[in-house]
Amino acid sequence: MTTSKRVAVITGGASGIGRETSLHFARKGDRVVVADFNEAGGLETVEQIVKEGGEAIFVKVDVSKQEEVDALVDKAVEAYGRIDVMFNNAGIGGAGPVLDQNMDLYHRTIAINQHGVAYGIMAAGRKMRELGIKGIIINTASVFGFLASPGTFAYHATKGAVIMMSKSAALDLSPHGIRVVAVAPGAVDTPIIQGYKDNGMLDSMRAKVMGGELTKPEALAKTVYLISLDEAEAINGSVVMADQGYAS
Ligand code: NAI
Repeated sequence: MTTSKRVAVITGGASGIGRETSLHFARKGDRVVVADFNEAGGLETVEQIVKEGGEAIFVKVDVSKQEEVDALVDKAVEAYGRIDVMFNNAGIGGAGPVLDQNMDLYHRTIAINQHGVAYGIMAAGRKMRELGIKGIIINTASVFGFLASPGTFAYHATKGAVIMMSKSAALDLSPHGIRVVAVAPGAVDTPIIQGYKDNGMLDSMRAKVMGGELTKPEALAKTVYLISLDEAEAINGSVVMADQGYAS
């Protein structure tokens, strides 16, 4: 099927930033492929989009499995004929100090937050190149990609990797007209950071954002949308700070 509408694939679309970004893109007229391993949450996002008159489908995916991410991109193209935007956003908190790592959680954090983003870049980049689409790949990094905090060893490693993977991929994909950008939130009011409540980190994060209020996921969604527009063509291989002053 050919269409003039853009098609956006959004991982982590069942919750938080991914959910709000899915809703925002759909409200702006894009077709959205909501991807997550949380099926109930992903279907709810799709239901909400459809209720508002938008177009979306849900695809269940575990982004830590390359074959599932490849299949996700294939399904998006089967359903809507193209892929213009890939938002590699699914992630987990992955806490724990370096000498006291739960090694399962360590490997899982790297598999989801780092390999999951790499697979998304590869799958979407290959498909865009094959179809001749000058699309955009946006990856969710974090201020924790370059600011250290105690007790979050694996998470920092993955977010630093997302930043450099985005820059490196942007160089490789720019000859094909495909942009790659990292977005770095600070402290966004979503379930993921509730995990930081117990060790007092949530309070210290809140104190670092301007106005002392956590960033709303809706605000992140709008930033991601702006980055995705062709008008933002100068933003490429860049890290967009959407951190409400967290890193300043
Ligand atoms: P969230 O917990 O609300 O959403 C994360 C989503 O990713 C969930 O729907 C979850 O089911 C999905 N997910 C987790 N593992 C998956 C897997 N293996 N396959 C498919 N889906 C999977 O959290 P939030 O805040 O919306 O997180 C989105 C991204 O933003 C993450 O990459 C996170 O690291 C990043 N981030 C969040 C910040 C915050 O303060 N909330 C700050 C900086 C970055």
